[in-house]
Amino acid sequence: MTRWLAGPAMARANALVGGWMAEAGMAVRVDAAGNLVGHLPGSDPDAGTLLLGSHLDTVRDAGAFDGPLGVIAAIECVARLRAQEVSLPFSVDVLGFSDEEGLRFGTAYLGSRAVAGTLGPELFGVADADGVTVGEAVAAFGAGPGAASRRGERLLGYCELHIEQGPELERRDAPVALVTAIAGATRAEVRFTGRAGHAGTVPMELRRDAACALADFVLAVEAAGRSQPGLVATVGRLAVLPGAPNVIAGEAVASLDVRHADDVVRAAAVDALRERAGALAAARGVELAWEQRMATPAVAMDPGLTELLATAVAGRGVPEVRLPSGAGHDAVALSELTGAAMLFVRCAGGVSHHPDESVQAADVAVALDVLHGFVLRLAEVAGAAEPSASQL
Ligand code: GLV
Ligand code: MN
Ligand code: MN
Repeated sequence: MTRWLAGPAMARANALVGGWMAEAGMAVRVDAAGNLVGHLPGSDPDAGTLLLGSHLDTVRDAGAFDGPLGVIAAIECVARLRAQEVSLPFSVDVLGFSDEEGLRFGTAYLGSRAVAGTLGPELFGVADADGVTVGEAVAAFGAGPGAASRRGERLLGYCELHIEQGPELERRDAPVALVTAIAGATRAEVRFTGRAGHAGTVPMELRRDAACALADFVLAVEAAGRSQPGLVATVGRLAVLPGAPNVIAGEAVASLDVRHADDVVRAAAVDALRERAGALAAARGVELAWEQRMATPAVAMDPGLTELLATAVAGRGVPEVRLPSGAGHDAVALSELTGAAMLFVRCAGGVSHHPDESVQAADVAVALDVLHGFVLRLAEVAGAAEPSASQL
């Protein structure tokens, strides 16, 4: 499964998941950034809106749960509230973000940044591998006229349920965890330009082989990641052009992804890698172009919302586990708009970004109870939920 921003797979996902939102009683739209939005009105128009959800885009050859689990859990939460005839004072919007992974454009959170109102105009000009820009892709997608940005609205917060993507919950034998903070990340596109030529005739000492510079760089990235505890550095995508067995590479492009919980460490590692890339290029007589595609700081989750989640975890009678997230999430972008909190669900072997991703239904059931409990507790704090007779 590969589903990127404004692609045909996303159109099908939006239609399917939008149908489930409608069945749960929500008004459904696709906003100007291609995000799927389900709206459940509250009883008090002045009480504001709680945002729930996660992303519907995926990495290449993805698993089924990274992102979609959080969207579907949020829909199930709304369905349950309606089935129990709970009347919330505030509205609930379920968001299925169109771009969290950043597969198509090499920069993540395009959907959630649009909602947060932090998508700079320069990003609309960023092009995919076929030269299609963000602006063109979203326009061609037929995204709705509804503005994506929710800035200026009365918002009560954002809560995202997501698979853990790590082994800690299995190790601690617990179904769910409260997220404390999300590590910062930098992404860049690193391009080496040498000179293409005939593989059979150009002597080795006369070559300016971009693929060899790229190979040097990939290993330098691995060495950098290994050099410090907590630092991770990855080249996940390579392109060598023109890409024929009998042609010396004239151009070679690498993606770069660098993360650390401490922004200072991450920034220093990126600077050092950029310098190293320059030196590697110079040694081979090739040119270096370094385009930073994204830099997001480490983000702490909202303490108030996280305590409400903790109360819901306690109410469900499962152990309280708190974990930082090495993976990025839409909550990073949303935390620039409103308080954000996250609930992790145990996943098998900590595996993600792989078709083998899986969860236990019993763990998801616990997480759904916690999310539902969180919404009810927020209603108690934010005003008063009107419990139905069936709940009393
Ligand atoms: C999203 O999964 C990311 O951390 O890149
Ligand atoms: Mn992911
Ligand atoms: Mn995700």
